[in-house]
Amino acid sequence: MDTETLLIHTARQTAAAAHSVSPPLVRTSTTVFDSFDAYKQAQGALVFDGPRYGRSGTSTTFELQRAMAQIANTEASIATSSGLAAITAVLAAHAGPGNHILVSAGVYGPTRVFCETELIPSDTEVEYFDHDADISALLRDTTSLVFVETPASLTMEMWDMPTICAAAHERGVRVACDATWGTPIFFDAHTLGGDISIHAATKFINGHSDLLLGLITGTLDALAGVREYCDRSGTHAAPDTCWLTLRGLRTLAVRMERHQRSALAVAQWLQSQPAVQRVFYPALDTDPGHKLWRSQFSGAAGPFTIELAPCSEDAFTRFIDHLSLFSLGTSWGGFESLVMPAVPHHLRALATPADTPRLVRFHIGLESPHDLCDDLASALAAIQGEEDTTAGAPQGEQATLAVDTAS
Ligand SMILES: Cc1ncc(COP(=O)(O)O)c(C=O)c1O
Repeated sequence: MDTETLLIHTARQTAAAAHSVSPPLVRTSTTVFDSFDAYKQAQGALVFDGPRYGRSGTSTTFELQRAMAQIANTEASIATSSGLAAITAVLAAHAGPGNHILVSAGVYGPTRVFCETELIPSDTEVEYFDHDADISALLRDTTSLVFVETPASLTMEMWDMPTICAAAHERGVRVACDATWGTPIFFDAHTLGGDISIHAATKFINGHSDLLLGLITGTLDALAGVREYCDRSGTHAAPDTCWLTLRGLRTLAVRMERHQRSALAVAQWLQSQPAVQRVFYPALDTDPGHKLWRSQFSGAAGPFTIELAPCSEDAFTRFIDHLSLFSLGTSWGGFESLVMPAVPHHLRALATPADTPRLVRFHIGLESPHDLCDDLASALAAIQGEEDTTAGAPQGEQATLAVDTAS
């Protein structure tokens, strides 16, 4: 089955039993058993999709976990309370005194903060590596995990997953990947060699900006330690959240297609604006990561970053405040367009704001790209102190959507 069909027909086991197309929402803290034998079996097993106690999930959780495993082309999935909880569970399950974890530079800021405030003080060695690093030279006998986020948050560099996975596997080391940007629709982390894939379902998978959820996928073997960690630490997703995410999942493929077309159209338009110095988006053929993106992704998601030409703090503030269709907020992946000033982790220590590049991260939502470009044109004009212009915005949605996203 193609993924589009799978998204519609997966996770309907409990729905069929209830004579419904939508799975029932089952909430409980307490799981009860028909017999002592069934009880003993559940307590002893490592539970991925069977009842034990509310923390390991209900039939609603298991429906979502089975759906996600199927869509991600693997055996199992674990739902967690947020995307960050999924990341920290995977890292914590591989940490320990003397263990060495390689982490791609440019990971989501809180991933790095967790490494620095939790892992390093408890004697796990964390080493960051650049996208052009020779990973085989960095692997050690004590390396327990390679953690990659591709593309990097904010700066959007691409990491070469097959090369990293081949080198790690040669040394018996697992590779985990934060694949939130690509989603399983555009990025098949497991086929590229990733052992564990992490998705902040908060973003595109749910798609409606009304919940937080993480999903971890992989083989039963690759996820065993992470499942144990989640059980030990109480990392848990609420059934209500899983139910809403299942609802969002049904439309993931159509939404991703629209995010991609609009984001590419807006990114191309921004590239032609004199006030924009650079657009960081691997789907653009001018982007340094374009070749890798083409070889590993089948599409591009809604978030990308731009660097504005140097301007004063006042002008920068005018730009941000002038946007009306882009809400100012730090998330992405929902139906609505968002903007936020972006300060990548490695630039945070710079002494003065004047040294900091004027980076802005956008998420292109499901609005008309024509309207979004009009809004951006007006905000770019505000940098110069001008109040209103729509010069250069694409002529209508049809023209914008005609962009060939495969090129
Ligand atoms: C790449 C990436 N991974 C993980 C997360 C964390 O997800 P959550 O907000 O669900 O904790 C985010 C949030 O912005 C993210 O950008």
